Amino acid sequence: MERTLSIIKPDGVRKKIIGEVIRRFETAGLRIAAIKMIHMTKEVAEGFYAVHRGKFFYDELTSFMSEGPVVVMVLEGEDAIALNRKLMGATNFKEAEPGTIRADFATSIQHNIVHGSDSPESARFEIGYFFAETEIF
Ligand code: CMP
Repeated sequence: MERTLSIIKPDGVRKKIIGEVIRRFETAGLRIAAIKMIHMTKEVAEGFYAVHRGKFFYDELTSFMSEGPVVVMVLEGEDAIALNRKLMGATNFKEAEPGTIRADFATSIQHNIVHGSDSPESARFEIGYFFAETEIF
């Protein structure tokens, strides 16, 4: 069993597809082990995406992620990190496989509906960034 962090970004919340995204996760066999809606400050978004600090898209990314509420979740299942990434599709929606969340709903590299941890190390950091162990079931 593996855990990964998923975020439904402000564009996904605005589009009213929280239910559709969660349905895809659950249908694929991922279990929601933790979930909450939060509105990040710019500083919280900057800390979450610290690995991207210095990149040309960092300021725009952290502004976007703090412009409205998001849904943060811990997904649990076999190969949860890879499975979640498969369900999301490529970061650039133009390269995402048909039927993936980003191919179906994203409108730009920035506005790409969902975030998912990309490794066990980032999953550990990202889950701990938003959830106490007592909030994960
Ligand atoms: P995410 O999986 O949340 O991880 C970092 C985010 O940066 C990525 O999805 C995109 O939304 C955003 N981003 C914006 N521009 C770029 C870019 N040129 N390359 C990669 N990621 C980008």
